[in-house]
Amino acid sequence: MAIPWWRRGAIYQIYPRSFSDSNGDGVGDLRGIVERLDYLVDLGIAGMWLSPFFRSPMADFGYDIEDYCAVDPIFGTLDDFDLLIQEAHARGIRLLVDFVPNHTSDRHEWFVASRSSRQSPKRDWYVWRDGRGSSGPPNNWRSSFATPGPAWTRDAATGQWYLHSFLPEQPDLNWENPAVEAAMHEVLRFWCDRGVDGFRLDVVQKIAKDPLLRDAQPGKPATWEDWQPTIHERLRRLRAVVDDYPDRVLVGEVYILDLPRVMTYVNTGDQLHMAHNFVFVHLPWSATAFRKAIDDFEELATESAWPAWFLANHDHSRVATRFGEPQARTVLLMLYALRGTPFVYQGEELGLPDAEIPSDRVIDVDGRDPERSPVPWRPPSRAGAGAGFTSGEPWLPITSRAEELNVESQASDAGSTLCLSRRLAALRESEAALQGGSQRTLDAGDDLLAWLRVGDGQRLLAVANFSAADRQLRLAPDLPGAAEVLLSTDPHRPAGQVSLQELVLTPSEGLLARL
Ligand code: NOJ
Repeated sequence: MAIPWWRRGAIYQIYPRSFSDSNGDGVGDLRGIVERLDYLVDLGIAGMWLSPFFRSPMADFGYDIEDYCAVDPIFGTLDDFDLLIQEAHARGIRLLVDFVPNHTSDRHEWFVASRSSRQSPKRDWYVWRDGRGSSGPPNNWRSSFATPGPAWTRDAATGQWYLHSFLPEQPDLNWENPAVEAAMHEVLRFWCDRGVDGFRLDVVQKIAKDPLLRDAQPGKPATWEDWQPTIHERLRRLRAVVDDYPDRVLVGEVYILDLPRVMTYVNTGDQLHMAHNFVFVHLPWSATAFRKAIDDFEELATESAWPAWFLANHDHSRVATRFGEPQARTVLLMLYALRGTPFVYQGEELGLPDAEIPSDRVIDVDGRDPERSPVPWRPPSRAGAGAGFTSGEPWLPITSRAEELNVESQASDAGSTLCLSRRLAALRESEAALQGGSQRTLDAGDDLLAWLRVGDGQRLLAVANFSAADRQLRLAPDLPGAAEVLLSTDPHRPAGQVSLQELVLTPSEGLLARL
C-alpha cells in the first residue's frame, strides 16, 4: 500500500498573524502565505497546518471563533483562502486547518442567543449551571490559563454560571447536546468541501467531560476531561465525517501527558490519524529521557498508530531558547529521521530563538508572545524594521537576531539552519527508510541517542549528541564498522566514509549515516 501523504514529509505549522503580511497593516494574512508558497516548496514540506484565521474578536488570537466558516478581515477573505488552497495544491502542498471544537467566542451568535435567557433554544448549547452555596462556582474546575482562575463565570443576566476551559471570552460548547455535535460536523464538511486536506483538532480531549461535572481531584487536573468512553465515540464520529472524503487527516492536540491514555486516541485506527505527543515537548535535554519517550511510543503503538513528533508550536518557548542553538539543529534532524511525521513550527527551520518582548508590548494573556514573533524574511539593514515580514509596524517585535537569522541571508549560506532543514527534507524524500522504515533505538554511549531506520534494503543510522562536549560513539559489535555520512548538523563534518569504531560526535552534533 502506498504511504499516505501525511506520513511522507513534514507538516509545517503556520501562525498566520506572524508569517507574512501582504498589505502593510503589520499582521500576517492569507495573501502573504500565497506570496511565500515557493519558499515552502523549497522547504520540501508535505503539508501545512494553519492556526485559526476565522472571524474572531481575537481575545485568544483566533482560538475564540465568532464564525467557523468565515475568514477574519484581518487575514483576508474566503476568496483569498480559495486562492491559497488552489495555489498550494498546484505545488503539491496539502493544507490543514485548525478546528476548535471545544469552545467558541462569547460573540458567536450561538452564545449570544444562549446567554440571552434560560429559555433560549440555544441555552443548552453551552454548559450553564447554578452556583454552589451563596456565591461560588458550580465546581472546582480551573481554567487552563493562569489568569482567569476558575473555569466558570457568572452571567448577571440569568444568574447562572457558564463553563470556559480557557478565557471567559471562550465559553465551552456542550457536546452532550447532539445538535452541537451535528453543527460541528457541518463545520468539518464546509472546509472539506472547500478542499482542505485535514484538520488539527484543538484541545480535542476536552470535547467529552464528566457529564456530572464532579470536582477535580487534587493533583489530577485531567480527571474531568476526556471522559471514557464518550470521547472515543465522539472521535469515531468525527473520523467518519472526514472519511467521506479521500485522503483527509485528523491530527489531535491531545494535551495529556499520560502516553498510554493518548495512545487510546490513535491505536484503534478509526479515531485520530495522529496525536501530537506532548510528553516530548516537556522533556529535559537528555538522551535517556528522549530514548524512553521514543521507545514508550513504539511499545504502546499498534499497527495503526503513527507518531507526530514536534518540539515547538505557538504555545511553547522555541527550541533554540529552551535547549540552545546547536541543539535546535539536532532537534530538526531528530524530527525528520524518527519514524513518524515531523511537525515544524514556522521559524524552527531557521533556528529562531524566542523574541524579547518589552513589557509595554506584551499582548497575549498567557505569556506566549516570544514564540509568536513574526518571521524575519530579509535583513532589517536593507528591508527596514519590518524585516520583510511587513512594510508597516509589526504587531509584535521581531527578534533582535533578524539581521543574521532572516530567510534571505540563510538561503545563501550553505551552513545555515535553513539549508540544513532543506537537506533534511530532501533526504526524507529520497530515503524510503526514513519515510516508512522500521525503527530501533540503540545503546550508543553516554549522552548519545542513536537509532536505526531500516527499509527498502537500506539501513540508516541516526545519532544525536546531547552533550555540549565531544562524545565517542560506542555501538554494539554486530553493527558494521564503517558508514557513509549523509548529513551532519555540524557544518565542519565532511561527508563520506567514517569508521564507526572511531567516530566522535562533536558537541551537540546530530548525524545521519548509511550503513
Ligand atoms: C490550544 C491552542 O494551541 C492555544 O493557542 C489556545 O490558546 C488554546 N488551545 C485554546 O483554544
